[in-house]
Amino acid sequence: MEKVRELFSGTQVEEKIQEIADMINKDYEGREVLVVGILRGGVYFMTELTKRLTMTVMIDFLAASSYGNATISSGNVNITKDMDTDIEGKDVIIVEDIIDTGRTLTHLFELLKKRNPASLKLCTLLDKPDRRVPEANVSPDYEGFVIPDYFVVGYGLDFAQRYRNLPYIGILEFE
Ligand code: IMP
Ligand code: MG
Repeated sequence: MEKVRELFSGTQVEEKIQEIADMINKDYEGREVLVVGILRGGVYFMTELTKRLTMTVMIDFLAASSYGNATISSGNVNITKDMDTDIEGKDVIIVEDIIDTGRTLTHLFELLKKRNPASLKLCTLLDKPDRRVPEANVSPDYEGFVIPDYFVVGYGLDFAQRYRNLPYIGILEFE
């Protein structure tokens, strides 16, 4: 059986989210921003983040699945549920749970840039830079925690669709 060992408590996560919100509030003061949550993992982070934003905020969602493997230099991403909003001319912030290899967001960004947003920024709760593949071309504009190569769950992150609802972030351990 697997068990979960706490890495960041709910309080620590929420303090970090407030820090990120403070930065976004400063950077986007007086503007209108479209926050796009990546389903499903980014949802818990996104709701906590947007509650703390003080400019005019719109929200939308996008689901993507990535295909690709370590031996092929171009991965691919499929948008499995597209957002409903036309992002042309809008200030867009993509909100993701974690950047791992970086493949998903590299390809997602290429697709979204073609829709001509006024600006496109990336905000992630967690980042595992050690896992980045050479062809990945993403760096978060806002990030919560940089972690080593742990497999983490909770606060939206899953293992086989389970554990997303944990109110903290933990390392999944197999025994
Ligand atoms: P990548 O950056 O394209 O490798 O993919 C990132 C996606 O993989 C994230 O959106 C998560 O859904 C998933 N993922 C990567 N690392 C973890 C983890 O530690 N726990 C749970 N999901 C993860
Ligand atoms: Mg995900």
